[in-house]
Amino acid sequence: MSNKVDVLLGLQWGDEGKGKIVDVLTPDYDIIARFQGGPNAGHTLEFNGIKHVLHTIPSGIFHPGKVNVVGNGVVIDPIILKREIDALEKMGVDVNRQLFISRKAHLILPTHCALDSASELEKGKKKIGSTLKGIGPTYMDKTGRNGLRVGDLFLEDFQTRYDALKAKHQRMLDQYGYEGDLTEKEQAWLEGVARIRKLSIIDSEHYLNDARKAGKRILAEGAQGSLLDIDFGSYPFVTSSNTIAAGACTGLGIAPNQIGEVIGIFKAYCTRVGSGPFPTELEDETGETMRRVGHEFGATTGRPRRCGWIDLPALKYAIMINGVTQLNMTKADVLSVFDEIKICTHYRHKGELIDYVPYDLLGQALEPVYQSVPGWSIDLTELQEESEFPEALRNYIHYLESALETPITVVSVGPDRTQTIVRQLLAT
Ligand code: GDP
Ligand code: IMO
Ligand code: MG
Repeated sequence: MSNKVDVLLGLQWGDEGKGKIVDVLTPDYDIIARFQGGPNAGHTLEFNGIKHVLHTIPSGIFHPGKVNVVGNGVVIDPIILKREIDALEKMGVDVNRQLFISRKAHLILPTHCALDSASELEKGKKKIGSTLKGIGPTYMDKTGRNGLRVGDLFLEDFQTRYDALKAKHQRMLDQYGYEGDLTEKEQAWLEGVARIRKLSIIDSEHYLNDARKAGKRILAEGAQGSLLDIDFGSYPFVTSSNTIAAGACTGLGIAPNQIGEVIGIFKAYCTRVGSGPFPTELEDETGETMRRVGHEFGATTGRPRRCGWIDLPALKYAIMINGVTQLNMTKADVLSVFDEIKICTHYRHKGELIDYVPYDLLGQALEPVYQSVPGWSIDLTELQEESEFPEALRNYIHYLESALETPITVVSVGPDRTQTIVRQLLAT
């Protein structure tokens, strides 16, 4: 049996249902490791009538005995992490035993969040629609070689380093004309830092590689989605990390030849929260229905998500850059309300029919070209196995598998753990 690290990530603009599927797959693994992003993520899990949203902590945390690692590629806000830990401990989760944090993960400071807000305010109508969690400024300090890392919390001169970075940020904030008061937030931040100091802080690259060699099964959990990737997403309307499979290598210290399955998750339709191009967006009643039926409101910010039909050129692109080996489709149940379902197969671009994502998504009018297929129009949420799938759903799945040249191994028909239909066992 090969023992490589499997990766699970979103293929669209985030919120594909990564949290739910990771939770479902966790029994097959020993370790779940987040590799990038930060609390801009909101990963929702539902089981036993409980709904829980995780922002920093991997989605395997509810399975007793499973180790959850926050990798070096993640950026951590101590305030949010402490809040997450407190909520989990209230639910009886043994966080101290189950959660490990990389020494090399970067810290989000209160001033990073302020810089995020100030930058968005200055952009005005051109704003990214950031979650304002300080993600961009923190990754800027990482690549600018100014950042503070979790390991620095244990250095004698940590306070001096913190003060220096804060002063630098303050000068930038002054330039923006930012007038917010961060005193209260700084207090909460210090409390968060005190909690982090008591966690298991590890060299996660060593821990994960040793565990893999010892036969432990590892699942790397992505955040955001491939179309929000800093290099390959709809730049500049992206996040500040590599959300694609390669991000699992840099964000965890796993060599490329140790990556096994790449599980790509997509919704049976498409959503986006925040600004930026969205070729299949429906600004009409159909889009409104998707939002209402799919409860499409951001798990982190509560903002309404923009909705539209599935976009095959964008999915093909995401599958290519990730090396996706199997697909998982979520929210198939939401499409039950439509008699007719549309699939964007191509774009019309400068008078030509194309099936790839052009460089300048913003500057050029991109007209989606659709193929209509019949809907299934029956409730899927009680289905237990594939043999119960209505024919129209079966056809939809086969159509996508054929167009995307990748098997769909899991179909999700509701938010609960139990509403998950595995079509084919994970290749191991
Ligand atoms: P993530 O960021 O990829 O983990 O996804 P989010 O948690 O932000 O958003 C997905 C939303 O859809 C959550 O509210 C989930 O509970 C919900 N969800 C996940 N899978 C399904 C599904 O198959 N059907 C329905 N109706 N809801 C789902
Ligand atoms: P999960 O992991 C959906 C979006 C924001 C904004 C852009 C940049 O739950 O799928 P940032 O806060 O990174 O500066 O925002 O990216 N965004 C997400 N959209 N799901 C997410 O995470 C997202 N994380 C960031 O809305 O458009
Ligand atoms: Mg989310």
